[in-house]
Amino acid sequence: MLANKRILLIIGGGIAAYKSLELIRRLQDQGAEVVPVLTKAGEEFVTPLSVSALAGQAVHRDLFDLTAEAEMGHIQLSRSADLLVVAPATADLMAKMANGHANDLASTLLLATDTPVLLAPAMNVRMWQHPATQRNLEILLEDGITCVGPDEGGMACGEFGPGRLAEPVAIVAAITARLTVGPLSGRRIVVTSGPTHEPIDPVRYIANRSSGAQGTALARALRDLGAEVVFITGPASVAPPDGVEVVAVETAQEMADAVNAALPADAGVFAAAVADWRVTSASDRKLKKSKDGLPEMEFAENSDILKTVSHLDEGRPRLVVGFAAETNDVVENATAKRLRKGCDWIVANDVSPATGIMGGSENAVVLISDQGAESWPRMGKDTVARQLADRIAAALTD
Ligand code: CTP
Repeated sequence: MLANKRILLIIGGGIAAYKSLELIRRLQDQGAEVVPVLTKAGEEFVTPLSVSALAGQAVHRDLFDLTAEAEMGHIQLSRSADLLVVAPATADLMAKMANGHANDLASTLLLATDTPVLLAPAMNVRMWQHPATQRNLEILLEDGITCVGPDEGGMACGEFGPGRLAEPVAIVAAITARLTVGPLSGRRIVVTSGPTHEPIDPVRYIANRSSGAQGTALARALRDLGAEVVFITGPASVAPPDGVEVVAVETAQEMADAVNAALPADAGVFAAAVADWRVTSASDRKLKKSKDGLPEMEFAENSDILKTVSHLDEGRPRLVVGFAAETNDVVENATAKRLRKGCDWIVANDVSPATGIMGGSENAVVLISDQGAESWPRMGKDTVARQLADRIAAALTD
């Protein structure tokens, strides 16, 4: 996804700097060249040697490094990149950027360029929530800088809250999105895909026949139009696409939690075949047929992710798309389902075994919206995905 792209990676001084090493590897896996820059504070957390060894080139550290100036001045250094990425972006670096300081190599590079900049902030939760940092963030966003994270969770300092560096996969997805220019550039889209597994005991589970093929194709098509895609997938039989943030889950509950964590978004596309029920009597040891006899199972209904998101008062995506797998009266059932779930569109398909659609490579869908039902001819799942992605792009640019 990032072949022939040059990423100038500025590593700031924070405990999360160690994750920038993994980020370098992941960017290289996607074909990118990583030109590393390490701030003085960054050097306290990762060594120049490990950074340059991983990047496969010398790390830039000093504004007044004459050798570097002779080989490549700092102005050229930042302009020759396709994207500047600051990870971790500390409160101090953000403050410098917001105020146009240029008193070390990193801040000078960031000021001396009109190349797009992506920030992955990481800091203590109080520092992140401080009005000064939030003010700086607002200025930076107004300046056209994009931001990935920070994530919420436990922090190295023992506190809990927003401030953790986004995971390297999420940063790579944001970088890919920033470098892909298309009608969905700057849009964030959450996609669920695949089946869920509901455990009976540590080795057995209840599942369904979804392969994840349609959801995966859709995530890829949205990515290709420039969207930043969060791809939340159950245990699917097809591999997830590159260049999207993959969140792997197993159960419906985990999927619901992951969707919650991924919002807000401009659109939510819920292609997963979520199990309607979970086993409440799941055993934490393997059930033995000799000792336990026939198992008795109790079920509870899983929360309906699509319905919950469709009814959010605050933070509802502008466009919510559900899927309906039906075996009979497809249009009638799916039209009723759209109203029941409260989503904007339902993509309905006939999954009767004779159609070969579930687990197959083709799909024949009916797109149901407030405009009525529109039947699409049978075509490859990739083509369905591209056409749907085009429709989503059109809806979000209205
Ligand atoms: N869905 C969801 N969370 C659930 C169940 C379903 O998000 N717990 C979403 C699916 O991803 C899909 C849509 O809802 O987009 C349709 O799911 P389906 O199971 O067909 O809907 P139900 O309301 O359970 O209808 P049915 O009576 O046909 O089972």
